[in-house]
Amino acid sequence: MQKNNLMEKIVSLCKRRGFIFPSSEIYGGLSSSWDYGPLGAELKRNVKSAWWNAVVHSRDDLVGLDASILMHAQTWKASGHTDNFHDVLVDCKNCKKRFRKDHIGETCPSCGANDFTEGRAFNLMFRTHLGAVEDDGGLVYLRPETAQGIFVNFNNVLDATHRRLPFGIAQIGKSFRNEITPGNFTFRMREFEQMEIEYFTRPQEAEECYRTWIKDRFQWYIDLGIKKENLRVREHPKGELAHYAQGCSDIEYQFPFGWSELEGIANRTDFDLKQHAQFSGADLRYHDQITMEKIFPYVIEPSGGVDRATLAFLVDAYDEEEVEGRTRVVLRLGKELAPIKVAVLPLLKKNSDIVTLAKQIKKDLQKNFVCVYDDTAAIGKLYRRQDEVGTFYCVTVDVQSLEDRQVTVRERDTMRQDRIPVENLKKYLSDKLF
Ligand code: GAP
Repeated sequence: MQKNNLMEKIVSLCKRRGFIFPSSEIYGGLSSSWDYGPLGAELKRNVKSAWWNAVVHSRDDLVGLDASILMHAQTWKASGHTDNFHDVLVDCKNCKKRFRKDHIGETCPSCGANDFTEGRAFNLMFRTHLGAVEDDGGLVYLRPETAQGIFVNFNNVLDATHRRLPFGIAQIGKSFRNEITPGNFTFRMREFEQMEIEYFTRPQEAEECYRTWIKDRFQWYIDLGIKKENLRVREHPKGELAHYAQGCSDIEYQFPFGWSELEGIANRTDFDLKQHAQFSGADLRYHDQITMEKIFPYVIEPSGGVDRATLAFLVDAYDEEEVEGRTRVVLRLGKELAPIKVAVLPLLKKNSDIVTLAKQIKKDLQKNFVCVYDDTAAIGKLYRRQDEVGTFYCVTVDVQSLEDRQVTVRERDTMRQDRIPVENLKKYLSDKLF
């Protein structure tokens, strides 16, 4: 498949077919904000469910959490975000454009001049106020990461679940960063969703745990269908690490705009719990009831983005092939991720018996699968529509079906068609899809 203009094709498909729309479009849009449409909402839910199933439901050592977006302002003092979570900005004195200092070289990327203002620190956290009075007493931030909600609930989760080390807490939720240079569609936004794990372990086991999490998280993307050649792990050199971190690796995906971070996995030592213990006065040590030891556990943090993962799955699944002299666009999403599993299509919408049977079949199948019914075009066009949104199976009801109670089931990738008795249809699809 031609990789030219792949990003443009994805953005256009997303808009046209209802995966992702520009936000507030009727008002001219809002820079770098995007809305997930009917199919995008399904796809994103599937990405989050696949993650939750893999890291919470399929394991014995993790539990979930859903903490609030607004947190006590001291949280961000303790985490370091109030003082350190900023980018340095400069203005070009010639064209007046503003840039992140670390994103530009000697000359202005816009006009080529080499005359900038002094760098100024710009904190990336969105500020707001609790209650009616906008004074500093009520100042709070929209969380810039979900991770801190986990640390501040460390004791609550321990008390409620009686976990022993090693164990982890997983969370999915919105985060907000006033990014200076958002862009590349949903890759970098100001409002986005994260899927984060804090995995608590004894210090002497932390290194092995860190390595295992890198492998597990890499494999998750492969299991959901990302091509191995489009994924890599980039280990940060020592000089790039935060002062408290003992290791950090990014899982990167080869996007059309280059290799870029999908997820980071860090060995954060005992920094976060110690910071919160110091700032809050709470005892956040882990107390082992059997050995009676009290320690600050180390934490391994696999931290991924829902929107970035969703974008990578879309890009990786996009395919074009020549079929009988025409280009067929097909989204080869995996079974777990495809927004629609089955489309039921009547061959003739003027024949009311065909329509009735097709609707009955859809009603029955939707108890088990995400299904759609579509009769708004000729069958060739209906197939192409389903292919380009990744629908796994199309079930077609025709005149013959009224006599022999059989329907045609067409598989997305091979376009192979089988005649299946209506009474066996659910079992046939379940065997293929689950
Ligand atoms: N708690 C660690 C943390 O937040 P991060 O590398 O800043 O680490 C983790 O963010 C992940 O969140 C990234 O790998 C990315 O997938 C996602 N992410 C971060 N900023 C984002 C943004 N502006 N837009 C979309 N996703 C973002």
